[in-house]
Amino acid sequence: MSVVAVIGAQWGDEGKGKIVDMLSEKARYVVRFSGGDNAGHTVVNPHGTFKLRLTPSGIFYKDTTSIIGNGVVINPAVLNKEIDDLNSRGIDTSRLLISDRAHLIMPYHLAIEELEEEALGDKAIGTTHKGIGPAFTDKVARTGIRAGDLLDKKVFKDKLTVALTNKNKVLTKIYRGYALSFDSIYNQYCKFADRWAPFICDTSVVLAEAIARNEPVLLEGAQGVLLDPDYGTYPFATSSSPMAAGACLGSGIAPNKLTHILGVFKSYQTRVGAGPMPTELNDETGNTIRELAHEYGTVSGRARRCGWFDTVAARLSARVNGYNSIVITRLDVLDTLPRVKICTGYKIDGKSIDNFPASIATLEKCEPVYEELPGWQKSTAKTRIFSELPNRAKKYITRLEELTSCPVSMISVGERREETIIRKSVF
Ligand code: GDP
Ligand code: IMO
Ligand code: MG
Repeated sequence: MSVVAVIGAQWGDEGKGKIVDMLSEKARYVVRFSGGDNAGHTVVNPHGTFKLRLTPSGIFYKDTTSIIGNGVVINPAVLNKEIDDLNSRGIDTSRLLISDRAHLIMPYHLAIEELEEEALGDKAIGTTHKGIGPAFTDKVARTGIRAGDLLDKKVFKDKLTVALTNKNKVLTKIYRGYALSFDSIYNQYCKFADRWAPFICDTSVVLAEAIARNEPVLLEGAQGVLLDPDYGTYPFATSSSPMAAGACLGSGIAPNKLTHILGVFKSYQTRVGAGPMPTELNDETGNTIRELAHEYGTVSGRARRCGWFDTVAARLSARVNGYNSIVITRLDVLDTLPRVKICTGYKIDGKSIDNFPASIATLEKCEPVYEELPGWQKSTAKTRIFSELPNRAKKYITRLEELTSCPVSMISVGERREETIIRKSVF
């Protein structure tokens, strides 16, 4: 039995889409378990270049069932468009299933998020503006509407009536904005229900049966651990758990069924949106990395903030997820740099800080302590075997292994499936 969880180990955009697309060859089920269309997973394969928001990155294999799990929030308009786009490019999506427990993003979630972020002014989170936070707020407040509610139009009508009456009060009386039309939302969501009803089911049962038959399952994380509402840089975080524990909760797979937890790290670091990142490079090196790697958001197009690999943050990521192994992606991006740095610790007023702090006020004061290594200044893009990497690149990877206490099972040296060094199979 193999149940592999692929976890974004930093602040998102680590290259999870590439890794999941590559590993999906061995999987029979690929499951998105958290987030929503705030995610943007780039896949470059023989079918073309794709930027997936909701559809699992295993969709390209004909024998693989793709599942949008209960931990995901779904914007029906975005899912419809994504599926139509995939179909128009010849990708068969007929094996996509949707959990009946997945919550729906409603038009009022998008409207409320706009108003909330605006009201925060310079304290705004810098969200992706996809209604993610308000949808998860309703889930926890027990006022959300789930995909399964669409299967009975009367249930859906009743829930929407209660929810919209309340949200229209918030929109008009608190924010002095416009009320939304019941009929327009009801009709739009009924059309979605008619299209997707045959595919909405208890996906946790489907997965339990697959695991009982020993069929390999791949769990696809979204976002990254440092955006987790508990362990990330709260409140500059997202609203669902990108962690290995979140993979179990968001798919309905029991924790003791996971056979491998794979953390995905970039060889450096990026962050989109507001919030502290101690190793951020506000200088020429940061700009060089951004331009070399084209570090601009997949969803929002925003420039990603770039910085050196931070092993204090990585140790937190490893501690709370229990990685069996990790992947280092985008090693090729560092190929031309004369030297590379690794953050090995933090200091505040000369005092060492060994553990990633909970408080962002403390984190903002942390000065990174760096170890500097010489760059390898040779192309790694064509390397497929670890021993054939330039010695200095090998040393960089080995040092990351030592500092994170995690074995590196794979190294990615390009955006395509085959541009990968595999040291140990995770299936
Ligand atoms: P995700 O959200 O974790 O799936 O990552 P994104 O797709 O948002 O961003 C990762 C970017 O890095 C994408 O443009 C990928 O095509 C690209 N990428 C992934 N792995 C590699 C790699 O090893 N080298 C290079 N040069 N690009 C990569
Ligand atoms: P993938 O899956 C990078 C960030 C946003 C913002 C914060 C909260 O592609 O790695 P939200 O819209 O979730 O309420 O925004 O989280 N964020 C991401 N950053 N990659 C992502 O997903 C992200 N999803 C959300 O930029 O700072
Ligand atoms: Mg992304």
